[in-house]
Amino acid sequence: MKQMADVGFGMWKVAPEDCERVVMEAIKAGYRHFDCAADYGNEEAVGAGIRAAIEAGLVTREDLWITSKLWNTFHHPDHVEAACRKSLSDLGLDYLDLYLIHFPIALEYVPIETRYPPEWIFDPEADAPEMRRAPVPLHATWAAMEALVDLGLTHQIGVCNYNSGLLHDLMAYAVKKPSVLQIEAHPYLTQEKLIRLAGDYGLKVTAFSPLGALSYLELDMAKQGESVLTEPVVRDIADAHGKTAAQVVLRWGVQRGTAIIPKSSNPGRMRENLAITDFRLTDEEMAAIAALNANRRFNDPGVFCEQAFGLFNPIYD
Ligand code: A2P
Repeated sequence: MKQMADVGFGMWKVAPEDCERVVMEAIKAGYRHFDCAADYGNEEAVGAGIRAAIEAGLVTREDLWITSKLWNTFHHPDHVEAACRKSLSDLGLDYLDLYLIHFPIALEYVPIETRYPPEWIFDPEADAPEMRRAPVPLHATWAAMEALVDLGLTHQIGVCNYNSGLLHDLMAYAVKKPSVLQIEAHPYLTQEKLIRLAGDYGLKVTAFSPLGALSYLELDMAKQGESVLTEPVVRDIADAHGKTAAQVVLRWGVQRGTAIIPKSSNPGRMRENLAITDFRLTDEEMAAIAALNANRRFNDPGVFCEQAFGLFNPIYD
């Protein structure tokens, strides 16, 4: 069976107008695993890049691992297949390698024809725009995800942003087991217990935002001083190996057994982020980086939903 490469490429926040170039550059740099989502608002453009790379003879569809994600407004079993088919048609694919539930948050349905991607707010044109929860239990969404595998629309299914309680519950009702748990993880949020539990249940963990704060500076969700790349311990380890601080942090992510999905729009950094297989961190170095843990979560619905969408909606607490 096809394996998901440990270093993938994250498409979050890649502007649609840049996607075709970025996907082509990333494939030329050696990336084969692309992490996409309906909510990133760029799947059509990503699809154009994939098609261009295949037409140029750089790769075949079989060489690629394409992940996409079910958005919150499509959790009801009546909408899961249509949402998956929309991602497939935007990406120009007839199957996904992996389809994930993006958040354990069900929001009121917004038809694809009304607005796509629907994002978080039910009706942005309303006098008082608001995020609206929908009473859809996750087990019902999961059963609809399982049906996608039977239909051949995706080879594997999984979840994102689940905590350990939700994971125990999922494993109790899943007929087809999830193969991947995708969570935020980096040296400031090491998530040891959750990663260990996922491993015990046989799931591979993918770490998003593996470089930590960098991704959140432009969103005002982190401050410059929160970059793990300036930590003296990371810099010292980088110097000792003749690698960059980013390579050390990414290597730490892979060496602890997680897949990582850094994004870069810059071809030099794309190559830099892939070039992490020719060195190994010592146990002491691994521990020193893990000791930076501060349980600092940058992507927290318990914070941003209230700030941006007017609804207090924690999921990890
Ligand atoms: P850029 O695209 O200009 O390279 P994410 O955490 O979502 O993967 O985002 C990674 C962020 O870190 C992006 O802002 C990206 O900017 C930046 N970045 C990616 N790779 C590196 C690197 N090797 N060194 C420094 N910054 C990086």
